Amino acid sequence: LTGGAAAVGGALVGAASATAVAASTTDPAPAPRTEPADYGQQREPFHGRRQAGVDTRPQAFASFLAFALKPGTDRAALRRMLRLLSDDAARLTQGRPALGDTEADLATTPARLTVTFGFGPGLYRAAGLASPLADLPRFPIDRLQARWSGGDLLLQVCADDPTTVAHAQRMLIKDARPFASVRWVQRGFRRGRGVEADGATHRNLMGQLDGTVNPKPGTPSYDPAVWSGDSTTLVLRRIRMEIETWDKLSRTDKELVTGRRLDTGAPLTGTAEHDEPDFTAVDASGLPVMPDFAHVTRAHVSDERLRILRRPYSYDGEPDAAGVPDSGLIFAAFQADITEQFIPIQQRLAEQDLMNEWTTPIGSAVFAIPPGCAEGGWVGEQVLS
Ligand code: HEM
Repeated sequence: LTGGAAAVGGALVGAASATAVAASTTDPAPAPRTEPADYGQQREPFHGRRQAGVDTRPQAFASFLAFALKPGTDRAALRRMLRLLSDDAARLTQGRPALGDTEADLATTPARLTVTFGFGPGLYRAAGLASPLADLPRFPIDRLQARWSGGDLLLQVCADDPTTVAHAQRMLIKDARPFASVRWVQRGFRRGRGVEADGATHRNLMGQLDGTVNPKPGTPSYDPAVWSGDSTTLVLRRIRMEIETWDKLSRTDKELVTGRRLDTGAPLTGTAEHDEPDFTAVDASGLPVMPDFAHVTRAHVSDERLRILRRPYSYDGEPDAAGVPDSGLIFAAFQADITEQFIPIQQRLAEQDLMNEWTTPIGSAVFAIPPGCAEGGWVGEQVLS
C-alpha cells in the first residue's frame, strides 16, 4: 500500500510543472484523492433504464468488439444470445464470475467494468425489423478499411484495468460464438486511473486536451443532446494520426490547427481550459485569433442540445520497421440523432478543417444503443420481443 501510494504521489509530481518538480525535493508529494487499492472493487450498475458506458465517466481502458451474425441467427437466436450476454455482463460488472467462467478469479476485480450493447443495421435485418440507423454519407477525407468498419453487434467493454477488460472480452466472445463471429476488435486507452484527478480531460496522442466542450451530465441540455428516451446512438470512427508529419510542426502551428493551447487547452482567445472561445476576436493585423479553419471553429455547435458526447480512446499499435507509429483515436460519439447532430459536424470538418492534414479516418461504424434492462431482463428485450 505504501509503495502504491508513493508511486501515485510520484506520478502526480511528474505531471506537475517544471517549477513544481524543482520544489518537490522539499515539499511533500500531494496525497492521492482516493486510495488506488480501492479502484479494483468499484462497480458501475448494470441494470437500469439506460445502459451504462455512456454517461459513465470514461474508464481507463476499452475494447470495442464488433460481431458479424452467423447465417441462421434469426430473431429467436438473437434473443437467446442477448439473454446470455446480458447475464454475463450483469455478473462480470458486479465482480461475479460469468456462468461457466473458466477463470473465475479474474472476475473478482470489476474496476468499474461496463458492457454496452450496440445494434448495427444487420442485426435489425436479421430480426426482420427496420433499422432506425441513418447511414453515414461518404466523406471525401475517408480512407475506410473493411477491417475496421461495420458490424452487426457491438460490445463496448470498458474498465479501469486491462486484465478485467481482457477477461470480460474472453467470456463475452465465448458466449457469442455459436451466434456470431468476431468482425473486428479495437482496443484503446486513456490515462491510467490515479495518475490525474478523476474527471480530468483526456489528452490524446497528438498531445491535445480532447473533450473540453462536451455535454455535461446533470445540465438541462444533456439529456436532449445524448438520449432519445432511454436509447442513444454511437458513431465509432477509427482515425489515424499522421504523427510523423504532425511532429514537424512548431508548437504554435499545432495550436493554430485546433484553436486551443496544448498545455492548458485554453482557446487561443482565453487563458483557462473552460474559457469560452471568442470567434470574433482579431489580432493586430486583423486576422481572426481563432483561425476560420481551426478544428474547434469548424466543429463548434452553439445550440447545446445539438452537441455530441465524445468519449474517445487512444490507440497505439506497433510501429512499422521504419519506426512510423500506428497511433490514433477511436473516436466514439453518442448523440440522440446521428442525422441532426453528428453528420453536420462531420460534413463541416470534411470540407474545411486544418486537422484533416494530420488525421485520416480509416474505420467507421454506427450502432443503436437500446435501453437498459431491469434485473432478470436482457438488453434488447424492448426491440426484439
Ligand atoms: C473539439 C481533437 C475528430 C468533433 C476538439 C478539440 C480537440 C479535438 C483537441 C478541442 C478540445 C475539446 O473541446 O475537446 C480531435 C482529434 C480528432 C478529432 C485529434 C481526430 C483524430 C473529431 C471528429 C468530430 C469532432 C471526427 C466530429 C465529427 C469535435 C467537436 C469539438 C471538438 C464537436 C468541440 C467543438 C467546440 O464546440 O468547441 N477535437 N478531434 N472531432 N471536436 Fe474534435
